[in-house]
Amino acid sequence: MKELIIIKVPSISFSEQKYFIEEHRTPEHPEHGKWDALHEHIRFAKEEMGFKFYSENFWNDVIEKSELSWHSKAGRLAHGFKDYLAVRRSISAYGVSTYNRYQHRYETLEVLRQLVPLKYNNSNWIGCNFFTRLDTLNAVKEFCEVLDEPRVLEAGCGFGGNMFLLHRLLPKTAIYGFEYTYSRIASCIVNLVTTPMLEHLFLADVVSLDLEDKSYDVVFSHHVLEQLGQEKANKALKEMWRVSRRGIVCCEPSIQGCSNIYETWRMKKLGYCRDLLHMVKNLPNCKIRKFQQSTYREWPNSSYVIVLEKTGE
Ligand SMILES: C[S@@+](CC[C@H](N)C(=O)[O-])C[C@H]1O[C@@H](n2cnc3c(N)ncnc32)[C@H](O)[C@@H]1O
Repeated sequence: MKELIIIKVPSISFSEQKYFIEEHRTPEHPEHGKWDALHEHIRFAKEEMGFKFYSENFWNDVIEKSELSWHSKAGRLAHGFKDYLAVRRSISAYGVSTYNRYQHRYETLEVLRQLVPLKYNNSNWIGCNFFTRLDTLNAVKEFCEVLDEPRVLEAGCGFGGNMFLLHRLLPKTAIYGFEYTYSRIASCIVNLVTTPMLEHLFLADVVSLDLEDKSYDVVFSHHVLEQLGQEKANKALKEMWRVSRRGIVCCEPSIQGCSNIYETWRMKKLGYCRDLLHMVKNLPNCKIRKFQQSTYREWPNSSYVIVLEKTGE
């Protein structure tokens, strides 16, 4: 493993809170050590993006069943067309580099209120996009329920939405998360500022983790490996496996399987990894507890949830 430098940014004050961020990325990372840039991202996220802190009501955001009318179907086509243009634009601007794509993207817990078309039990539904994460979070919950003081790690925690919800589901569980870019960790910090998880965030690269073997009970990812391409995704999966004690949960799109023609084109263009199931076959002492298409079909990112348990522990 490469030598990694761990830096604690001393006492950044955010409202009344103080927090530390550890740097576990390699010195080659383009943002490495530029802590002023992190401060600027936090300021920007808070002041200029108008981030609102978590509102108690978001958990109550409901999905409504709606057989899509002809115009909402047209809306989905329109959505597909917009997505198509966005994919093309992203590739011509950034190539398939994840770092570049996420460099300036901020998300607030408000995104949970965005309505998206979903397919569930062969019916069309309209729901907030958090609904699609419940498969993953419930799988993590199942792992943790039988443990005394579980420690959970989210790889690529993005804007902190999964951590936030998991904290609601498992209040006694210690939940940690890491991100790859300042912009994402900034939105995560802002979104989690009122929770104990603020103390549990750090910067790292899932492909090469400077963490002890089996240091967390469960490690999970939600739409992170997808973007790494096959080779790096393989490495990332091995790393997640290494640092987990009980097992891992991944919810990731996979080109093999349920994707339609457009989704397949999109995933190939964006360099997504190809075959999730094939990748896990080389993990040692691994039992596949679950491998199923995500219950909620979210276009254009149809995914699988895979739950892997360590055997002989
Ligand atoms: C589609 S977002 C998903 C975010 C979050 N998991 C969620 O479900 O909301 C993918 C995230 O993976 C992160 N990511 C990409 N490459 C990474 C890497 N090598 N190590 C850690 N995180 C990475 C990105 O910064 C981004 O926040």
